[in-house]
Amino acid sequence: MLGRFIYPFIDEFRQGHSQNMGDVYQPAEDSYLLLKHMEVWVRGRVLDMGTGSGILAIAAARKPDVSEVVAVDINPDSVETARLKAKDSGLLGKMDFRVGDLFEGLDGESFDWIVFNPPYLPSEGDCSERTWSGGIKGSEVISRFLTEAPAHLKADGGMLIVISTLTGLSLNDLKESFEVEVLEELPLFFETLTCLLLRPSSHL
Ligand SMILES: C[S@@+](CC[C@H](N)C(=O)[O-])C[C@H]1O[C@@H](n2cnc3c(N)ncnc32)[C@H](O)[C@@H]1O
Repeated sequence: MLGRFIYPFIDEFRQGHSQNMGDVYQPAEDSYLLLKHMEVWVRGRVLDMGTGSGILAIAAARKPDVSEVVAVDINPDSVETARLKAKDSGLLGKMDFRVGDLFEGLDGESFDWIVFNPPYLPSEGDCSERTWSGGIKGSEVISRFLTEAPAHLKADGGMLIVISTLTGLSLNDLKESFEVEVLEELPLFFETLTCLLLRPSSHL
């Protein structure tokens, strides 16, 4: 049922930039998994962390019950790509784009929903790898995100994230600080992706 709404959007989104996006993350299974659940859950003021091409931010902005979307990425090319896509979609008025390392430019700001499809593969930290590298172990970026995000969530706010079995993060680790709901598991060839809904225990 959901697919009837999502798949035409994905096709439309890809048409504009199927050419070379340089080091901007090309939407993939992880993006589509998060997109599917975002359609159901997010409303109000939304933060799309690590926006990449802007696919999640733009999908959120299309929802009538979403009032504003802030899209952040550490890669300036991603932010520029997402801004151009939002302009083409006629949604710029509802959106704000920022270049930054996670929450560094978001002091004092809070959101009803935060979505993050994090980078998670291990790397030595070359800047050109930021699109997909989660740090030397692979889980550094997501760990930092999980520590910083609760301060930016409204009292009844929630977060949607995708984690891979390659991330090296266990549900038990997450359950120490969050109420965790598994929304969907997607087995792929060499990893399983899981879409999670997290609410900080400190907010419950
Ligand atoms: C897996 S891609 C997801 C892109 C897009 N949200 C999607 O679902 O297709 C991860 C994104 O996070 C960005 N990123 C990596 N480290 C970041 C950081 N420290 N702060 C903000 N964004 C970061 C990358 O540049 C990349 O665009």
